Amino acid sequence: MQYLLDTANLDAIKKAYNFYPMDGVTTNPTIISNENRNFLDILKDIRNIIGEESMLHIQAVSTNAEKIVEEAEYLHQIIGGNLYIKIPVIPEGIKAMKILKDKGIKITATAIFTAQQALMAAMAGAEFVAPYVNRIDNISGDGAFVVNEILQLFKHYNLDSKVLAASFKNVQQVHSVSLAGAQSVTVNPEILDKMLEHPLTDWSVNQFINDWENIYGIGKLTLDV
Ligand code: E4P
Repeated sequence: MQYLLDTANLDAIKKAYNFYPMDGVTTNPTIISNENRNFLDILKDIRNIIGEESMLHIQAVSTNAEKIVEEAEYLHQIIGGNLYIKIPVIPEGIKAMKILKDKGIKITATAIFTAQQALMAAMAGAEFVAPYVNRIDNISGDGAFVVNEILQLFKHYNLDSKVLAASFKNVQQVHSVSLAGAQSVTVNPEILDKMLEHPLTDWSVNQFINDWENIYGIGKLTLDV
């Protein structure tokens, strides 16, 4: 499983990279605009925090293939590193994916709601496809089922493309796509923290502390007692 953080908030990124086994950061125009400052400064800051090797998925904003290609090349020049250009699975986006694939630029197909969209994007050269699990669930669909179907299709057609499951609102959704075999997930900082939360874990840790301190002294949480 590869964990990515779905945010452009620098403090959240620093915290996640400090504590958790992170593989990358994903943004989209909404996430960037939430930060309300120059988008290039944000992206450069993110690259500085996560380093050159970590994946950074940045979404193109244009809806025209030639413009998307220009944006992708521009982002490569300015941001660089292990970069993926997120492109929505509209016809102009698929066209852009074919062009960028030939130029050796890595692509994440995004705004995916059906397995057929994912298959088309993979055939056009996308390395990752990002199905929107919660948004599918919200229209009475089954996001984890769509992820399952995508994985089946990729296996059936011997495609190397991977699933980057996205748009989560709870831990159970992350669990469902993990069980389905999604290779990666992008989650917001709150969900990332919640994936570890359990009251009995906290209770157990507190009990260990209390038992130790009863014998070795309050505040003596050290092996040097
Ligand atoms: C990531 O690729 C998506 O843009 C993101 O996960 C969408 O999440 P949302 O449905 O919570 O906005």
